[in-house]
Amino acid sequence: MDEQQLMKKAMQAMRLSYAPYSKFTVGVALLSSQGEVFLGANIENASFGATICAERVALSCALMAGARQFEAIAIVANSDEIVLPCGICRQVLVEHCTPTLKVICSNQLEAFKSYPLSDLMPIAFTNYSV
Ligand code: THU
Repeated sequence: MDEQQLMKKAMQAMRLSYAPYSKFTVGVALLSSQGEVFLGANIENASFGATICAERVALSCALMAGARQFEAIAIVANSDEIVLPCGICRQVLVEHCTPTLKVICSNQLEAFKSYPLSDLMPIAFTNYSV
C-alpha cells in the first residue's frame, strides 16, 4: 500500500468523524507491518476534554485487534492547512510505534507532507524509574 492509497482510506475515515463542536473533521488510516489498515476519526464530546483524536481511535482499534508493529499513519482534516498530530497523540504514538513510523499529513486540498515520528517527537519521554 503506497502513501496515496493510505491517505484515501484516511479520507474515508474522516467521513465518520463526530465533530459537532469544532466542525474540524479528522480521519486517520494506520498501516500495520502486516499490511492491515485501521481507521479512526475524531469523536468529540459536549464535555470537550472527553474528546478523542482520530489518531488515538485508530491506534486503540489496532491494539485491540492484536496489531503491535506499525509502518505508517495517514492523517487528514477538512482544513486548508495540513493537519499535524497533537502533542498527546505524538506521545501515544511514541509508546507504540518506532521512531521510523511514517507520519503522512494532508488537508482537504490533498497536499501532503511526510515526517518520521522522530522528527515530530524528538527526545521523547518514554519511561521512568523511581
Ligand atoms: N484532532 C484530531 O482528531 N487529531 C489531530 O491531530 C488534531 C486534532 C481533533 C480533536 C478535535 O475533535 C478537533 O480535531 C479540533 O481540535
